[in-house]
This record gives sequence, C-alpha cells and structure tokens, in this order.
Amino acid sequence: MLELRHVNTFHGSVHVLHDLCLRIDQGEIITLIGANGAGKSTALMSICGIVPPRSGQILFQGEPIQHLPPNKIVALGISQVPEGRHIFPALTVAENLELGAFLRRDKQQIRQDIEHCCNLFPILAERRQQPAGNLSGGEQQMLAISRALMARPKLLLLDEPSMGLAPMIIQQIFEIIRKINTEDGTTVFLVEQNANLALKIADRGYVLENGKIVLHDIAAQLLSNQAIQKAYLGI
Ligand SMILES: Nc1ncnc2c1ncn2[C@@H]1O[C@H](COP(=O)(O)OP(=O)(O)OP(=O)(O)O)[C@@H](O)[C@H]1O
Ligand SMILES: [Mg+2]
Repeated sequence: MLELRHVNTFHGSVHVLHDLCLRIDQGEIITLIGANGAGKSTALMSICGIVPPRSGQILFQGEPIQHLPPNKIVALGISQVPEGRHIFPALTVAENLELGAFLRRDKQQIRQDIEHCCNLFPILAERRQQPAGNLSGGEQQMLAISRALMARPKLLLLDEPSMGLAPMIIQQIFEIIRKINTEDGTTVFLVEQNANLALKIADRGYVLENGKIVLHDIAAQLLSNQAIQKAYLGI
C-alpha cells in the first residue's frame, strides 16, 4: 500500500531522514519506534507532504506521491493524527469532526461517519456540542483520531497517540485502533515512543535511530529481541 524508497528529508539544512526504506501492506498495523528526536514525526510529515523529501520516492498504491501537496495526499486516502492532537479548541466536538470531512461532498455519508465515530468513542457523542478545548487529554486524542477517520482514510497515520495519557485511557485507545484495523479494514502506521504497547498491536515494526532504520522484523520478534528490550522496553 505504501512504500518509502531511499527517502532523505531535511529540516532546513539539517539532514533528518537518511535513505529511509519501508513498506506497509494493505491491512497491516506497522509501527515505527524510536527515541526522542529519532525522526519519527518527520517520517510521517514526509508521507503527508508537509515536509516533502529532498530525494527518494514515496509510493501509495503504486503511484509516486512525494511531489503532491498535503490536500491531494489526504484525498488519495492518507490521513494523519498529528503529535499533540491539534484539535480546534474553540470549535465544538461536532465541528471538529465535520472539519475532518472538508474534502468530501457526500453529506449523508458524512453524517453516518460521525455516528460511527460516536459509536467507537461514546464519550464524543456525549460531548458533541461542547467546545473541544473542554475535553480531557484522552478525549482530545479520541477526537483527533475520529477527525482523521472522517476523511475515510485507507491508511491512517498515528503520531504517538499514547503521549501524556493514563495507562487505562491508552489501553482503551489502542483497543479502538485495533478495531479500526480489523473491523473497518483501515491500514495503520503507528509511530510510538511506547514501544511495548506499539509492538503488541503491530504486525511488523521498524526501529529508527538518528534518522536511519536500524532494524525491521515482525513485531513478536522485536518484542523478544534482547537489544530492543534493553534499549526500548526497559527490560
Ligand atoms: N521544524 C524543524 N526545524 C528544524 N529541526 C527540526 C524541526 N522539526 C524537527 N527537527 C529536528 O529533526 C529531528 C527529528 O525530529 P522529529 O520530531 O521527527 O523526531 P521524533 O522521533 O518525532 O521525536 P519525538 O519522539 O520527540 O516526537 C530532531 O533532531 C529535531 O530537532
Ligand atoms: Mg515526534
């Protein structure tokens, strides 16, 4: 579904991603794990067209997208839940969800998709008419995920959905991510510092260090890999 071929991305003069190669197949949950500053968010921003690569190719369903602007990439079926959520605090929950569908014209389906999000996260139904800024951190994360789903993505990119949340809420959110994958058939690319959690729901994982992929394996293998346990799992 998505392939990165020798992607090099810079922030100004700083070379952040070095020759990044990775592959995500349809229906998979793939995780990219790595420490602070490894370049995880930059990888997602390259895929979304926010910080396009300076060289290399990004193929989505076989077509190069690395030259496309972000709105075109969303229209093709890739949406991102950004690090830090970036919901619109002054707008209501419902308005935030509607904004996620800004490229769509199918009003009836949009209403159905809002209901679907409210079924996934019932708290959003209760808070529908409240300003999103009044939601707790976990609820804002649920809203950010739902807003991304409102674009009907084939591939959902998640940037550290567990950040700053209590273990019980994280558990809840990860269960829904699994459900979005198994029930809706959405392919998931999950970026996480919480390697333990991410590897438990992923099919395969890539390990990013200083902008380079240093290891790639099926998730169960990474979980039992001693070097990974020591560096990322605190074992
Ligand atoms: N806008 C920017 N301008 C300059 N350098 C940047 C910018 N954004 C990120 N960087 C640098 O790029 C590198 C990778 O950052 P990135 O945010 O992609 O890492 P990350 O793995 O997502 O980290 P974290 O776990 O803290 O979210 C870091 O050295 C960071 O300082
Ligand atoms: Mg990041």
